[in-house]
Amino acid sequence: MPFTPDSELELLFSPSLIPQDVAAQLGADLHMRPLAKTDLYRSHLSVLSVLTSTPQLSESQYFHAFETLRSCPNTYFTIVIVSKETDQIIAVGSLFMEQKFTRNLGRVGHIEDIAVDERVQGRKLGLRIIQALTTISERVGSYKTILNCSDKNIPFYQKCGFEKKENEMARYH
Ligand code: ACO
Repeated sequence: MPFTPDSELELLFSPSLIPQDVAAQLGADLHMRPLAKTDLYRSHLSVLSVLTSTPQLSESQYFHAFETLRSCPNTYFTIVIVSKETDQIIAVGSLFMEQKFTRNLGRVGHIEDIAVDERVQGRKLGLRIIQALTTISERVGSYKTILNCSDKNIPFYQKCGFEKKENEMARYH
């Protein structure tokens, strides 16, 4: 598939929020941008499947989820790295912003669902996704950015500048 420029896509948020200093560190064959409404057809779900169970979705289910995120302005920021050669996604990551009443109406950025295609892991794409999401989190007004991860990923997040704090509790339904 030929590479699709941002101007031809319906994007989740303004591409002007993508930090250009981070994007510039990707190879010339790669492009970082916000999630697009048609990314179902660019391997979005198959890249996510390195993380957890990611069953196929119909186009209408995918569009509905995309519009649900887009209808909350300044809240959901999912970014992707696309191969310009194939127009397919090879890395993804998400940030959502939590509004608090504490800390003088502070906002907290939560990083979720970081996934890099197995074939290109270890090439700093995960690092670039985290750098970009952390910069966006700061730019849209957070006082901190947090995430949960397995023990095995702690060294990766430490390399990205995060430190271990407290514990995660979970209850599955
Ligand atoms: N243990 C130790 N160091 C690591 C690990 C690890 N598991 N993973 C990466 N690193 C190091 C790299 O060696 C590199 O170090 P360097 O700067 O000294 O060379 C640095 O961290 C940056 O690594 P990247 O090349 O950017 O890592 P990658 O692109 O492979 O992305 C990721 C890392 C996201 C963990 C990827 O391997 C992946 O998709 N794994 C499967 C899915 C997953 O576990 N996602 C994270 C879930 S947690 C969450 O989503 C909040």
